[in-house]
Order: sequence, then structure tokens, then C-alpha cells
Amino acid sequence: MNKLLCSLLFLVWMPFVQAANIYAGKMQAQAVCSQCHGIRNPSADAPFPPLAGRDRAYLEQSLKQYRDKTRVSEIMNAFAGSLSAKDIDNITAYYARLKP
Ligand code: HEC
Repeated sequence: MNKLLCSLLFLVWMPFVQAANIYAGKMQAQAVCSQCHGIRNPSADAPFPPLAGRDRAYLEQSLKQYRDKTRVSEIMNAFAGSLSAKDIDNITAYYARLKP
């Protein structure tokens, strides 16, 4: 019975451990990305594309492409170059769930 309870607790707990750390993503977004992209970026005419509320898979793919330089932008190649997979996971989780 105890064993069963433990396995159940473990299963319930697992996704939280695996999930992106939205708080860490927020800190990075506020410290770095927001300087150009803003947080909610209301100005569609800005030279910087908005990130809030965008499709997470798209954001993730873009950042990986910038990091691997398969998508070229001098600025973003530099910023994405220093991001780990976990950073990308956290930041995209944060921006994707924001309302623009
Ligand atoms: C110095 C300004 C600057 C900073 C800081 C910056 N970016 Fe960018 N970002 C840009 C520019 C300019 C573009 C458009 C580049 C292009 O034409 O591909 C862009 C494009 C993007 C795109 C592609 C959006 C789209 O619509 O295709 C993503 C995603 C992105 N940035 C994420 C980030 C994240 C996450 C950070 C923080 C780690 C960040 N950026 C920091 C300037 C910046």
C-alpha cells in the first residue's frame, strides 16, 4: 500500500519537475530579451517582432535556428548563441503563455 502510494505521488510530481521553469524564463526575458522585444510589446511597428502569446513551438524553433545559425540575424545569432536548451525551454514557456 505504501509502495503504491509512493509510486502514485512520484507520478503526480514528475511533470512538475520536468516542466519548464517559467519563473526562470521570466527573469531572463526581463533582463535580456525585453530590452528589444519588450514583454508584451504592444507596438506592432517596432523593428523587433513581438514574442508574447506567440506559438511556443515556433519561438523554440526560431531560437534554435538562430543558435545554430541556420536562421541568420546578427543580433539574434549573438543572443541565442548563449542560450542552453533549458533556457530556451524556460523563456519560450514564459512568452508563449503571456497575453500580448
Ligand atoms: C538587441 C536587440 C535584441 C535582443 C536583446 C533580443 N532580440 Fe530577438 N530579435 C531581435 C531582432 C532585430 C529580430 C528580428 C531578426 C530577424 O530578422 O530574423 C529578433 C527576432 C527574434 C525572434 C524571431 C521572431 C519571429 O517573429 O520570427 C525570436 C523568437 C526572438 N528574437 C527571441 C529573443 C529572445 C528569447 C531574446 C532573449 C534571450 C531576444 N530575442 C533578445 C532583436 C533582439
